[in-house]
Amino acid sequence: MCGIVGYTGSKMAFPIVISGLKRLEYRGYDSTGVALLNDGLKVYKKKGRVADLENAIIGKDLHGHTGIGHTRWATHGEPNDKNAHPHSSASGKLVMIHNGIIENYAQLKKELVNKGYVFSSDTDSEILLNFIEEIKENNQCNLEEALRIALKRVTGTYVILLLDAENPDTIIAARKGSPLVIGVGKGEHFLGSDASPMLEYTKEVVYVNDYELAIVRPNELILKNLGNEQITPFVTKLDMELAAIEKGGYEHFMLKEIFEQPSTINDCLRGRLDAAAGTITMSGIENNITHFKNANRIIIVACGTSWHAALLAEYIIEELCRIPVEVEYASEFRYRNPIINKGDIIIAISQSGETADTLVAIERAKENGAIIFGVVNVVGSSIARISDGGAYTHAGPEIGVASTKTFTGQLAVLVMMALKIANEKGTISEDRYKNLLLELEAVPEKVDAILKSAEQLKTIALKYKDASDALYLGRGYNFPIALEGALKLKEISYIHAEGYPAAEMKHGPIALVDENLPVVFIATKDLYHEKIVSNIQEIKARKGKVIAIITEGDEIIPGMADDVFFVPFADDIIAPMLSSIPMQLLSYYIGIAKGVDVDKPRNLAKSVTVE
Ligand code: F6R
Repeated sequence: MCGIVGYTGSKMAFPIVISGLKRLEYRGYDSTGVALLNDGLKVYKKKGRVADLENAIIGKDLHGHTGIGHTRWATHGEPNDKNAHPHSSASGKLVMIHNGIIENYAQLKKELVNKGYVFSSDTDSEILLNFIEEIKENNQCNLEEALRIALKRVTGTYVILLLDAENPDTIIAARKGSPLVIGVGKGEHFLGSDASPMLEYTKEVVYVNDYELAIVRPNELILKNLGNEQITPFVTKLDMELAAIEKGGYEHFMLKEIFEQPSTINDCLRGRLDAAAGTITMSGIENNITHFKNANRIIIVACGTSWHAALLAEYIIEELCRIPVEVEYASEFRYRNPIINKGDIIIAISQSGETADTLVAIERAKENGAIIFGVVNVVGSSIARISDGGAYTHAGPEIGVASTKTFTGQLAVLVMMALKIANEKGTISEDRYKNLLLELEAVPEKVDAILKSAEQLKTIALKYKDASDALYLGRGYNFPIALEGALKLKEISYIHAEGYPAAEMKHGPIALVDENLPVVFIATKDLYHEKIVSNIQEIKARKGKVIAIITEGDEIIPGMADDVFFVPFADDIIAPMLSSIPMQLLSYYIGIAKGVDVDKPRNLAKSVTVE
């Protein structure tokens, strides 16, 4: 949440900062701002998108070789010009951008107000900045020292970048709980919430850790902890190309990412799955195989779409591995007092690897002796780094705010994990194991076939785009897909939607059914097919409109449903990877038809780094 970017070097900072902000807009887009250091400080900020700021500053002085920029997702204070970052200190000598939440801002504010400070915004960030300045002036120390003292008093999360009018070419940064990457160039440094702003300039990056402070100059990068001890920066080589974060001819990132799935799933399987040899190679599992084989239970923590993948993992792991699994919302798990026993395995599922609730949940569990296994997309992210073992989804950068390709990537990883453990434990028959490997191998091709029929979903979308509500129903392995379908529709089209187990519908939601209610059934051929056919009848008897996602060759449901979309046959465990694709496309086409900015739907942010 909130994107931050910085540059110091011999180039003009503004073009680098502004293009970096465009790449980070997925993190928040309520307001935008930049500050440039060039013989004094210049600050430009505006409510709205990066493009709004660009229009507002035409003809302004944009010189400066050092600059910082911010794209905001509002926490404290509504989105408007004055709450936009960067904030300037009372003296005007310091400016700061901040990603995170200062939880004890009220106390700090009280202290500053008593000393006569007046604030021009409603943000916690402006309070922190003035708190730092107050310490600097009181103690007659430099900014770095003042920041260190201030951060010892702060509770909450932050990545902050500071510029000091009296300290040319220098950006001072600090991190706790939100991501910060520093790109190392020749005589220049780049800073970002992720590596995307620096990709065309350098592949060498340093991931800053919590409680670290960075003093960044064109030819110098000093990392310190809050105790003022110097730390050697650990430089990592990025394995990411610029093309991965560009639209590549698609109208939206979301569409590009949906259509990338045959190759992202392939990337996820490559080097791991060898169906012909009957093997799965996953070093994260192999290194922890004794723990997995002996586990009394597994707890999976996640949020949002990743939570839906977790729910599916519960069904799969329990069926194949016979290990009890509990699925928890990370935000609940971290605050209640869960029973965690030494040796319990906690799987954290996260696209970004930075979701604040998931991160804290696993930190708590780790303190209690649990083994943490991360299923993460973003390489080098916080969750990946604190996990004891893990498996990357290898879906590449996901820029569209709604998760699509990373969801199917998570499912592919989780199925492989379950198969690997089940095979090692001997809880799966040789035939079923081999068959599931072959099924998994065939997924990219089947997804490709589904995508070839995408236009049919466009037609269905146009029929239902004006609905005010929708119901998504599925049974067994398709129930989490119903939840995910409903979430995608809410996010991308602003239509209210609910997902339910199809049988649960009779216990309440059926009261909503009338001739205006579209009901999406995920009704692929599985164990429950006859049951779900009855559920469709029940909806039709009440005049609901039925859209059914069904398996090729199904001759029963087409006679009952208002609209059908066929997917290739797959084993029950594999089918959700296929049926999730029409869910994504239906939401996308409805969102587009309604004029929603599907890559940046209102109020959302890609990476939820505040709780
Ligand atoms: C929905 C969506 C969110 C995320 C959730 C968790 O399309 O993207 O619900 O799934 O915010 O994020 P990660 O997976 O990054 O932990």
